[in-house]
Amino acid sequence: MRPTPDWLISEPYTDVDLGVIKSGKEAQVNLIERTGDVSSCLIARKLYLPREVKEKGALEALGVQRSSTFRNDVQYREGRQFRKSRDRRAVEKMTTHGKHLLQDRWTEHEHDVMGRVWAAGAAVPYPVGYADDQFDMEYVGDSTRAAPQLYAARLDRAELDDAFDQLILGLQCLTSEGIAHGDLSAYNLLWWRQTLVFIDFPQAIDIAANPQGLGFLHRDVLNVCTWFERKGLDVDGEEVFAGLLAFT
Ligand SMILES: Nc1ncnc2c1ncn2[C@@H]1O[C@H](COP(=O)(O)OP(=O)(O)OP(=O)(O)O)[C@@H](O)[C@H]1O
Ligand SMILES: [Mg+2]
Repeated sequence: MRPTPDWLISEPYTDVDLGVIKSGKEAQVNLIERTGDVSSCLIARKLYLPREVKEKGALEALGVQRSSTFRNDVQYREGRQFRKSRDRRAVEKMTTHGKHLLQDRWTEHEHDVMGRVWAAGAAVPYPVGYADDQFDMEYVGDSTRAAPQLYAARLDRAELDDAFDQLILGLQCLTSEGIAHGDLSAYNLLWWRQTLVFIDFPQAIDIAANPQGLGFLHRDVLNVCTWFERKGLDVDGEEVFAGLLAFT
């Protein structure tokens, strides 16, 4: 068992928002300083943008910077069960109630998946907690800058080789846990102090329960391998995928 990280401040604490790390199409990530009795720690807080608020002014009033549309996520939801039939119908029909149910579940799902893969030893931010539309996790970076996304990290050749090895280890770990990331790319990998960190798991897929589970894994692998190939590495995505099947 991986012990709870010792940097994490427990209650009582106060949170102070230090500002936006990154604002994107689906979510905004803010840096939070959590101060306890004797010390403080930094947390990344991912705020999911409200999907039903259309007017720009209303979004700004809520403190977010960009609008967003509801993600068409039918493919991702397959294999994920809503226990009550009333809820299931609401989700299928995308009623307001259904959208609320889904929105609640993005943060819970992201938290749970990251908890599982963190416990299994993968390099992911430690998931700290979640609420309806926000998800708190370990911040990757320091007081001067957040970790860059892999695509922007300017790795030299030796670092690229190292990052690729870490990618394979991370994929093996996720696959052993029965999870496909579902949106893996050089944008959802961070590079910090020689470590490749996997982020952004709300759409993560249960490989066994989802009829397209292996398809998602295949797409992830080819996508990210193509990025490394373009950087000059001699990698074969199909071979990597075939190798991962042993871990399912
Ligand atoms: N734990 C973290 N520590 C540091 N930076 C982070 C962390 N989590 C996310 N970020 C930054 O915030 C960005 C967006 O986070 P994430 O990929 O989880 O959301 P997203 O759903 O892709 O958002 P969007 O689709 O709107 O870009 C990341 O690319 C990264 O730059
Ligand atoms: Mg992302």
